[in-house]
Amino acid sequence: MNKPINNLLKTIGNTPLVRLNTLCNVYNCEVYGKLESFNPSMSMKDRIVNYIIEKAENEGILKPGMTIVDATSGNTGLSIALIALIKGYKCIVTVKDSSAKAKISQLQLYGARVIKCPAKAKPEDPLSYYSMAKKIVDETPDAFFLDQNHNDNHFKAHYHGMGKELWEQTEGKISHFFTSSSTGGTVSGTGAFLKSKNPNIKIICADAIGSVLKPFHEEGIYYGELKKQTPLEGVGKDIIPSVFHADVIDECIEIDNEKSIQNALDLLKDEGIFAGGSSGAAIDAFKQYRANHPDEKISMAVLNFPDYGIKYMGKLYNPKAEAENASDLV
Ligand SMILES: Cc1ncc(COP(=O)(O)O)c(C=O)c1O
Repeated sequence: MNKPINNLLKTIGNTPLVRLNTLCNVYNCEVYGKLESFNPSMSMKDRIVNYIIEKAENEGILKPGMTIVDATSGNTGLSIALIALIKGYKCIVTVKDSSAKAKISQLQLYGARVIKCPAKAKPEDPLSYYSMAKKIVDETPDAFFLDQNHNDNHFKAHYHGMGKELWEQTEGKISHFFTSSSTGGTVSGTGAFLKSKNPNIKIICADAIGSVLKPFHEEGIYYGELKKQTPLEGVGKDIIPSVFHADVIDECIEIDNEKSIQNALDLLKDEGIFAGGSSGAAIDAFKQYRANHPDEKISMAVLNFPDYGIKYMGKLYNPKAEAENASDLV
């Protein structure tokens, strides 16, 4: 029986790994889903925010009463808001105006100050959510910039967190790891830990069409311009964050938006797991990988499901609202 705990932060991590029976049958291999919606704010971002905040507190750079600031597609903001609320910090987050409305309302309910920025603004534009976050940090006394894109503790959080956890949960049987990437912190940190245990484990990044991550991984080139837009939050990026370690990744796969959304809906019908669009993208990457490597042995594939589907009820899972919301990469 679980013992009583002092606060919600003790429930971060140790999320379930669930067999995806339908995919196992269809693809004739072992496929598991990592259910990160079991974290207290219903996304894997609780792991990294908690880790970064604890490190900053221990180093004395984050002190009581300070304001935590970051640019986020919503989930990281919600984790900051939750942890700030529990620990007594203030929280300001910049989001793209394409973020799901439910996420923005939830952020406000948790006490965060939310600055909505135009999704179409290029990273260097003063109105972009990156530039606005930096401006707020400069102008706010006692601000702590969490900086999920470039904070090395983000990488370390997944290295020591999800990476170690998956290795132990699968008793070292994991052979393939699939996850959608935006900052790239998850694929890099988790992937680096798994490869440190077994270099043969394949690390596969699901990327959006038009994102800058895949060309950077394959050619080392940063295309500053996005080529396309995606309605999927947490898939694809318009900058190369330093937490993205391209050398850890074996393959970047461009996912199909519609198929990803359908995969997420099928996941609900087949397994009762309600997950966000980026989870459907990881499933699409798995299916494409299987088709492209028909002879490769997959002893155990783990597909990361970063958050909970309810966050997108008014967006992805409602076709009319989706058309209004579909816009930029996050
Ligand atoms: C729902 C969702 N999926 C996937 C990701 C991608 O994770 P990472 O930023 O670690 O690459 C994010 C991050 O923004 C996310 O919020």
